[in-house]
This record gives sequence, structure tokens and C-alpha cells, in this order.
Amino acid sequence: MGQAICKELWESLLDYKTENWVFLVKKGYQVTDTSMESSIITKVKGVAFTNTSEFGEQIWDVADYVIPPQGENIFFIVTNLVVTPNQRRATCAESDRIPQAWCYEDSDCPPGEPVLTGNGVRTGRCLRSKNMMGICEIYAWCPVETKSRPMKPLLGAAENFTVYIRNFIHFPRFNFSKSNVLNSRDRAFLKSCQFGPENLYCPIFQLGYIVNSTGSNFQELAAKGGVIGIQIMWDCDLDKAASKCHPQYNFRRLDDTFSGESISSGYNFRFARYYHDAAGVEFRTLLKVYGIRFVVMVNGKAGKFGIIPTGINVASGLALMGIASFFCDLILVNFIKKSDFYRNKKYEEVRLAESLQQDLATEAKDSAEQPETQDGNSDEKRNGCECSQLLLSNRSGDSKNVNVNVEQMQNLQPVEVQPEVLDGS
Ligand SMILES: *[C@@H]1O[C@H](CO)[C@@H](O)[C@H](O)[C@H]1NC(C)=O
Repeated sequence: MGQAICKELWESLLDYKTENWVFLVKKGYQVTDTSMESSIITKVKGVAFTNTSEFGEQIWDVADYVIPPQGENIFFIVTNLVVTPNQRRATCAESDRIPQAWCYEDSDCPPGEPVLTGNGVRTGRCLRSKNMMGICEIYAWCPVETKSRPMKPLLGAAENFTVYIRNFIHFPRFNFSKSNVLNSRDRAFLKSCQFGPENLYCPIFQLGYIVNSTGSNFQELAAKGGVIGIQIMWDCDLDKAASKCHPQYNFRRLDDTFSGESISSGYNFRFARYYHDAAGVEFRTLLKVYGIRFVVMVNGKAGKFGIIPTGINVASGLALMGIASFFCDLILVNFIKKSDFYRNKKYEEVRLAESLQQDLATEAKDSAEQPETQDGNSDEKRNGCECSQLLLSNRSGDSKNVNVNVEQMQNLQPVEVQPEVLDGS
């Protein structure tokens, strides 16, 4: 039992240290600024050449595949597409993939009524070959889009394209600014470098590297599109040098990938390019583009030593420790089964010292009689002093006392059994 109490005593010392530690780790002594200002500029580079049966030979540069072209913090890169050229305002059959437009007779296609999930407005005719289910005729941009996306992405070469992300941040509270591109670097460095673990200040990322970092396969993602988040985190301890405040990059897939081949994963949209023919009639090319939408997000905080949070945290820490020991005492002394034991322990300081003196005196007089003398002492003393004795004897470091300690410990063995019996009464 004495040992258990000593252990508790030791652990309570550790607890105290833990509290200190939290104060340091959580930087309780710092004022923090989370209202970071940030600006982002992006620039994509890369050229691809494609040669398909559908489009023939084609060259793709930045102006062709980056939407929008301004270099914002959200940008889209075309990696796959479905093209429907030469559409004119006319009447034609609705796409047969739209069940709303299926019909048996003309009355199934009320004129003027739009096909809501389709491409146009019904004209009142049901176009059908003999005895087969028909499809409503519509007034629309004709012919309507009917092709489905290529399984292999047209611009799979985008894996090797790069994006340059320039981020400038400012913490108004501390008037501290920094960028993820170092000023000292020369132009040649930025022209040739590529981001990597040993190249933190080269914010030029290969698209393939970004996508692979999220655990996705680039070619799969390029085929049906997706959303990738690029997170830049700044966690600056301004008590240290400004050069110790580094940006950290994190890449994550933001569209739904949990349900595998789910209908909700992927990303695409449509747009058109308009032309006029020689007669001045408008026609267009409809493009349904699949691709990767990149979203660059920046967040951060900065901390600096401040006397006020230091004061508040130290004071509340001390107050909490005081309350904790008060409650421990309250429970130990009043509500525990063996509360008598703890009460004796707590309120016996003077008597303990007295009895120790006695012990030492007896020890000096006649060491052989010591066991008997100790056994003859009062109950309270036995209850209370084992632990302290051990601690005291451990503290005296010189070799002369070692023999006495061993002797004492041997002598104490029968005594240690007794308090249990006494407590049980
Ligand atoms: C990317 O570049 C490497 C090296 O130039 C080349 O081997 C690889 O085929 C390219 N990847 C794609 C998808 O074009």
C-alpha cells in the first residue's frame, strides 16, 4: 500500500508537468491572428498534340484548354470532350436517350411544350418508323448532341502540364507579409524547377503529381472529370524568424469518390462557339467538356508572444491546479472508504517529525533493539510513516546509510502487513 501511495505521489508530480507542457505546446503564451489576407494567381503551361479519327490532327495550347483564362484560384482544365458541330436553329428528332420524348402518336407530343431535360420544344409530330416506338420532333439547335464521351481522355497528355501557383499572404495584426515564392530566387530557377519535398519554395506543380497525391489515377480522372482541392496552409510562429514560416501544401479530391462509379462523381459542362455563314445565318459548335477543376484554398494563422494571454493562461492554470487538489483532498479525506487513513496522512506532519526524531534517537542508542521499538509504537505512526521513511532514507545518498536502509526495509516488512488488518476493523 505504501508503494501505491508513493506511485500516486510521483504521478501527481507528472500531472503538474503535463499542465506546463500543454501551455507550451498549445502556445498559450501567444496572441494569434487568424484573419489572414491572401491572394492567388495561377498559370498553367503545357502543349499537346492529338490525332484522332474524329478531329484529325489538332494542337492544344493554354488558350484552348484553360477555362477561365484569367488565372484565378479556381480553374478548369479540359481533358476530354464531345463535340457537336454545325448546329442550326431548326426542327429535328429529340435524342432517343430522353424517355420524356418517347411517343406512339402525335398526341404524345403536345406542340409548344418543352422537353425539360432535353434539348428543345415539341412541334406536335411523333417521328416513328412502322410499329416501333417513336420520338417527338422538336424545334432546337439541330442536330442534337447524341454522342457519348470517349473512354480514353483526348487530352491525357495533360498529366505532364504544370501549374504555377503564386500566393501572397498578409497578417494585419502583426503587419507580416510573405509569399510562397522567394524573392531571392532568379528567373532561371522558376523556369526550370518543380515542386517536391526538397523544393518547397518552387510552387510549380505537375498536374499528374497533384492528382496522384490525392490517391487518384490521372487518366481515369481525366476521362470523366473531377474536382481537386489544393490547400495551402500557413502556420507561423512569429517569435521565430520569418524564414521559419513555411507554406504547406495539401491535395485532396473534392468530388464524390466514395460510391465508386457513382453518377455523382465526375465533372463536365457545355458551352458553344458561334459563327455566321455567308448568308448571315447563325450556327454553332457545341462542346461538352470533361476535365479537372482545381480549387486553391488558403488558410493560416500567426502567433506572437503576448503578455495578456500569458498572464491569463498561467493564472487559470494555477487556479485549476488549486481547485483540483482541493477536490482531491475533499474526496480523499471525506468520501473514500479508507478516508481515515488519508486523513491521518494529511494531518500528521508534526507527529511524524516527532516520531522520526524518536526513531533516529533509538537507532543511535541501540540498533539491535530497533525492530521491537518500532513495533511498540502507536498505530497512527504505523499508518502514516512508511512512505515518508522510504523517501527520507532514499534521499540520504552516502554509502554509510545504505546498510541502515536495507535493514530498515527488512524491519518494515512485518509492519506493512499490519495496517491492512487495522483498517479492516
Ligand atoms: C509525360 O512526359 C514523360 C517524359 O517526357 C513521357 O514519358 C510521358 O509519356 C508523358 N506522359 C503523358 C501522359 O504524355
